[in-house]
Amino acid sequence: MYNFEFYAPTRVVFGRRTESQAGALVKEYGGTSVLIHYGGGSAVRSGLIQRVRQSLDEAGVSYVELGGVVPNPHLSLVYQGIELCRKAHVDFVLAVGGGSVIDSAKAIAYGLANDGDVWDFYCGKRKPQACMPVGCVLTIAAAGSEMSNSSVITKEDEGLKRSCNTNLARAKFAIMNPELTMTLPDWQTQAGCTDIMMHTMERYFTQGGNMEITDSIAEGLLRTVMKYAVILHAHPEQYEARAEIMWAGSLSHNGLTGCGNDGGDFSCHKLEHELSGMFDVTHGAGLAAIWGTWARYVYRDCLPRFVRFARQVMGVSEGPDDRVALAGIEQMESFYHSIGMPISIHELGITPTDDQLKQMARLCARGCGGHQGSAKVLDEEDMYRIYKA
Ligand code: NZQ
Ligand code: ZN
Repeated sequence: MYNFEFYAPTRVVFGRRTESQAGALVKEYGGTSVLIHYGGGSAVRSGLIQRVRQSLDEAGVSYVELGGVVPNPHLSLVYQGIELCRKAHVDFVLAVGGGSVIDSAKAIAYGLANDGDVWDFYCGKRKPQACMPVGCVLTIAAAGSEMSNSSVITKEDEGLKRSCNTNLARAKFAIMNPELTMTLPDWQTQAGCTDIMMHTMERYFTQGGNMEITDSIAEGLLRTVMKYAVILHAHPEQYEARAEIMWAGSLSHNGLTGCGNDGGDFSCHKLEHELSGMFDVTHGAGLAAIWGTWARYVYRDCLPRFVRFARQVMGVSEGPDDRVALAGIEQMESFYHSIGMPISIHELGITPTDDQLKQMARLCARGCGGHQGSAKVLDEEDMYRIYKA
C-alpha cells in the first residue's frame, strides 16, 4: 500500500429538481457575475438553461451565456469564452452539460485567472497558478469531470487532445439530477457507462499498492455500473438506474477507487485521446474499442489483477489463471457488445492508415514522456502494436 492523499472538495447536491438551487449556490461561493456555459443545444431544448437562468435571476446574480461546446471541446471556443468573460467581468463559471462543457468551463476559468496562453497548461509548458471558481449542473454521467481535477481540451487545428490536471479547477459544487440524463441517446448513455467503468479499471490494473477496501469499492462499482447499464439499455427512463450510474460516475473519477495504489495505469485513456484528437470519436466508445486489445497485450504482465477482476467482477469460476484472465477479458468484450459499444477501432467506423496509427503512437508516447503504464509499461512500439491489433 502506498501513501495517498484523497481530496474531493466538491459539494454534491444530488436528486430531483436540484438545478433550482444553482443561483443560491453560485451566490454562496461568491459569484456575482456568471458565465453560463453549455453545449450544442440539448440543455436549451430540455428547458434546463431556462430553469438555470430563472434560478440565477431569483438569487440576484447577473449572467452572460456561451453555448456551442462540442464533444472533445475545442480550444477556439475557450479563447472566445475568456474574451467574453473579461468584457463582462465574470467572476464565476457555471457549466451546464457534460464532461466537454465542464472541461471547457475549467479551461476558461484557468484563462481568466492567469496571464498568457491557456494552451500552455495543456501542452505542459507551464502550470496554472490559479483558477476562477467553477460550478456545474451535470447532464450526462460519464467523464466524472464534476468531481475530478482534470480538464481535457482539443486544439482542433492540430488534432491534439491534451489534459491539464490540478486541484485548482475542482468544481465548487456539482448539481446532479439524474432526471436530466433521461434525454440522452442510448449511445451516449452507454459510452458514458463505459467511461465510468474505465476510470475505475484504470486504477485497478496496476502493479501494486492495492488495498482490500479500495478493491472492494472498485469491484462493487463495476458490478453496479454493468447491472444498470443493461437496465438503461432497455429502460432509459428508470430513475433509480439513472441515479446509480450518475453517482458511480462521480465516485469513479474523484480518486476514491485509486486510494493506496501506485497511481494507476491510464494507458487506454492516453491511447483514446489520440484517437479522438485525430478522428473525433465519442470518448467512451473509443475506450471500449481499445480496452480488449490493450488487455490482451498486457494481461500476462499483470496476471493476478486480471484473475481477480475475472473472478470478482465478471463472475468467472475456477480454472487455470491464464484461462480465467482471458475469459474475464472476453466477457467484458461481450458486455460492451451487449450495450452497443464497439470492441475494435474498425467497429468504431474508422479505418486509420498505417501512417496514422504510427502518428498516433508517436504523439501518444511523446505526450507521456516516452512511456506510460503500470500493468505493463508501454513505449511507442507497444502503442503502435495495440492500435494495429
Ligand atoms: O452538446 P449537447 O447538445 O448538450 O449534446 C451532448 C453531446 O453531444 C449530449 N448530451 C449531454 N447531455 C445530454 C445530451 N444529450 C441529451 N440529453 C442530455 N441530458 O451528449 C454528447 C456528449 O457530451 P459530452 O459532454 O462530450 O460527454 P462526456 O461527459 O462523455 O464528456 C466527454 C469529454 O470529457 C473528456 C473526454 O475526453 C471528452 O472530451 N474527459 C474528461 C475527463 C475529466 N475532465 O475528468 C475525464 C475523462 O476521462 C474524459 O477524458
Ligand atoms: Zn474517460
